[in-house]
Amino acid sequence: MQVVQSVADVRRIHLELGGSWGLVPTMGYLHAGHVSLVERARAENDHVAASIFVNPTQFGPNEDLAAYPRDLARDLSLLEAAGTDLVWTPPVEEVYPAGFQTYVTVEEVTKPLEGAARPTHFRGVATVVAKLFNVFQPDRAYFGQKDAQQVVVLRQMARDLDFPLEIVVCPIRREADGLALSSRNTYLTPEQRAAAPVLFRALCAAQEAWLAGEHDGEGLRRVMRDVLAREPLARPDYVSAANPQTLVELGDARRGVLLSMAVRIGKARLIDNLLLAQEA
Ligand code: PAF
Repeated sequence: MQVVQSVADVRRIHLELGGSWGLVPTMGYLHAGHVSLVERARAENDHVAASIFVNPTQFGPNEDLAAYPRDLARDLSLLEAAGTDLVWTPPVEEVYPAGFQTYVTVEEVTKPLEGAARPTHFRGVATVVAKLFNVFQPDRAYFGQKDAQQVVVLRQMARDLDFPLEIVVCPIRREADGLALSSRNTYLTPEQRAAAPVLFRALCAAQEAWLAGEHDGEGLRRVMRDVLAREPLARPDYVSAANPQTLVELGDARRGVLLSMAVRIGKARLIDNLLLAQEA
């Protein structure tokens, strides 16, 4: 496994090795969810590349950039064990050199949900991912369904800007009690960690209601809010039952729905989602 810092080195190795490439973009502090993306990329491409870059432009002024957890040595050993060929760990100046002034703005799908709470977040994500696509020129790029809105935004960007690659979305990995794996789970105290599976319980309750015939979007949002209200440590930011492509809140959820939520527990802001689709 080669670990490099410069764009020039990534391009050189890409040319030298040839073949098809799968890219797994990450901000490091890897968990089993990231490893599952690498494994899928390994199975579908000749070579696998990963990036580890805590992207400053996707953090708001009051967010946890400096405190974001980092463990490069552990990340590299996980990536190597999972069969990664190339890892890019650029310093900030390699990605955003002095004088940088070009950003990618995806419009409508960045406005609700995470975008409403974090207004500059998706501009930062779309910009850095566009750069990663240009630097690596992968055949496929792998993202987790955990960040459901990010996936919608990046698919829109790839379509609108004609990036010649496939975006592959991998299922959410969960702890035994249902908590979705996330680097931010590390912020939870033991008491908060015990409360955190309430997000998945709320999503499952709405899924059960949907399967039992509750197809009113507001009814589904109410089911999720009711479950969250029973956990005193949970402070919901939003609860959503939206169209999976446009992210517009649904009245009629009969044909399928993306259930999602952001909930603060202690210092952590946790997100989770469940995609319900009517059998064709
Ligand atoms: O999902 C993430 O970890 C980040 O948003 C990404 C895609 C690596 C861009 O910084």
